[in-house]
Amino acid sequence: MKTINIAIDGPAGAGKSSIAKKVSAELGYIYVDTGALYRTIALFITENDISDEDIPSALETADVSLKFIDGEQRVYLGDRDVSGLIRTPEISMAASRTSAIPAVRAYLFETQKKIARENNVIMDGRDIGTVVLPDAQVKIFLTASPEERANRRYKELLEKPGCPSYQEILDDIIKRDHNDMHRETAPLKQADDAILFDTSAMGLEESAAKLTALIREKLA
Ligand code: DC
Repeated sequence: MKTINIAIDGPAGAGKSSIAKKVSAELGYIYVDTGALYRTIALFITENDISDEDIPSALETADVSLKFIDGEQRVYLGDRDVSGLIRTPEISMAASRTSAIPAVRAYLFETQKKIARENNVIMDGRDIGTVVLPDAQVKIFLTASPEERANRRYKELLEKPGCPSYQEILDDIIKRDHNDMHRETAPLKQADDAILFDTSAMGLEESAAKLTALIREKLA
């Protein structure tokens, strides 16, 4: 039986994962955060100090996998759960760089396809609607202005020691957007048949409720 696949693409910090988690819980689908896969590869490359030319052959030994525990995605490198370790600014930057390498994208392509073939999924990333799941029943391009995204991130980090300034966060977001949109392989762009969903003026609950309604309407 054909599974239901919903693709959500968009820039870093637009709220994709928080919104997609809520929507998938509501619809009873698995939520797949593909950024975590790219981050795990970046961790593997960083920890093992692998040079760019050695990446294609080293990937054969990478052993990246996903598990869904109580509906929540965990990422593994071998038998090590690295879901926490991949959430650092260093790994964010490393993932932005290494995700532009064609061998890395090719390595993760089948992992993503297989999950979508076997499950009803909401899959979020940068090239899900354009490359990974071009036949997804619903495609969403979820975005918010860079300033609003920086503002949200700043508020999240404010309580933590060593919080970067608003300007540093904004610069980081603009730099990552630029990397993601201008790389040669699978750049971030809205698929022709994707619906633009801008969350700049909406909170999490409102975004999730509106998106759930929109997906239900498209699937009806
Ligand atoms: O969504 P995120 O910030 O966790 O993603 C980490 C990096 O991985 C980001 O720089 C873009 C890249 N990425 C990608 O190239 N393709 C995807 N499908 C998901 C993420």
